[in-house]
Amino acid sequence: MTGPRVAGLRPSDVLASFDGPLGAYVHIPFCEWICPFCPYNKVLARLGLAADYFAALLTEIDMYGAGPFTSLYVGGGTPTLYPQHLAEVLPRIPVTGERAIEVLPLHGTVERLGVLKEIGFTAVSIGAQSFHDPVLRHLHRPHDAAQALAAVHHALDTFECVDVDLIVDVAPEEPSQHPGAFLTDVRTCFAMGVDQVSTYPLMRFGYTPFGEARHNRHREHEILAQVDALARTMGYERRSVWTFNRIGSAPYTSITRRRFLGFGAGASSFAGRDFYVNHFGLLTYMDTVRRGHPPIAKWLHLGRAAGMAYDTFWQAYSGGIDTGSLSDSYGRWARLIRPALAPLAGAGMVTREDGVYRLTARGFDQYHDIERWVTYHFIEPLWAQMLAEHKREGSHVPWAETANARSGPTWRVVERALSRRVESRAG
Ligand SMILES: C[S@@+](CC[C@H](N)C(=O)[O-])C[C@H]1O[C@@H](n2cnc3c(N)ncnc32)[C@H](O)[C@@H]1O
Ligand code: SF4
Repeated sequence: MTGPRVAGLRPSDVLASFDGPLGAYVHIPFCEWICPFCPYNKVLARLGLAADYFAALLTEIDMYGAGPFTSLYVGGGTPTLYPQHLAEVLPRIPVTGERAIEVLPLHGTVERLGVLKEIGFTAVSIGAQSFHDPVLRHLHRPHDAAQALAAVHHALDTFECVDVDLIVDVAPEEPSQHPGAFLTDVRTCFAMGVDQVSTYPLMRFGYTPFGEARHNRHREHEILAQVDALARTMGYERRSVWTFNRIGSAPYTSITRRRFLGFGAGASSFAGRDFYVNHFGLLTYMDTVRRGHPPIAKWLHLGRAAGMAYDTFWQAYSGGIDTGSLSDSYGRWARLIRPALAPLAGAGMVTREDGVYRLTARGFDQYHDIERWVTYHFIEPLWAQMLAEHKREGSHVPWAETANARSGPTWRVVERALSRRVESRAG
């Protein structure tokens, strides 16, 4: 696939392409139970394979010898399956700020959370999804509502910073059989005093058994507006399109870092003008690392204009676009931001104050729709392409049918344009 294209790329080249402080992301692609809605890169956990994987991961981390990082985010998959391996990873990644990890509710026990704290984690994200058993059954989750609730309670007792992930499925052909469940769950989180509630609309990836579906965007906007209204009455504020934070709580920022270096199979990195994606297939990833090469499968050289567009897009996710920071990174290109956002300001989607554009409620709704479009037009085709690596390696989850993935012309055009430049630079 794309391996030969990036064969000449050295870790020092990747590091040199970063134009500012970077966060670290580590991907642990193993789960003991595969949820049918989940698009992320993972395989069924096997003990021997995990030991080999962690050995490769440490080699990759040492290959870069980078740091200190501003923050660390460990995601998956189910990273909480392997606290003993993570204990070896953390000391190899120097971090000045937050160290966060995704926690499967089944692993949110007092003992395991205590171990995570002991090895250096400072923040956790509990993948509760819902506190209603019928909703959890609809999602085919491996835990029940009581376990999800207990995990959140234990996390609050153990960590300073706790995020809870909730999913809301409002596909029109599946009118909620559980009216009010989602809003009740949000209220529960607010009442418990969690630092952040992530309210994800269920994305239906074509290659998962949940398949493609039309979205009822108005209903989604309406539900998020209800969450926003509830937040205001319970001491919370909307800090990004899909997150609501306790007013005064420390920012939970490791997933919205402007620049990040990703380690592990399928991890991506954004350096400001360049975007890299590691091999998704575990065998290909481990083999490339063992041969002493960075395991990068895809390198898109975005350049200043597309790099700034990407940066701006993710800043907008967090509700604010800071023209000063864009100007520092992209020079005169940042002058384009004002005319580009003028129509949005005119339409009441953003307001401007001291060089920072803030999304209004209308702006958040618009962004919500664009984010979904980006997910289906860019992320899904990219991930489907990479998941084909699993198939070649014989480790794909049975239901991951890459042939069913969306692959519109937009992604193909962008990929061809940006990857061609990669070939000429790399060659
Ligand atoms: C890697 S998963 C969570 C980690 C852990 N394995 C777990 O399941 O609890 C990160 C989060 O992504 C969200 N997520 C997964 N699939 C999604 C989908 N199809 N649409 C929207 N959100 C999704 C879920 O809220 C999930 O908690
Ligand atoms: S949602 Fe979590 S547990 Fe379920 S398959 Fe995805 S990463 Fe694994």
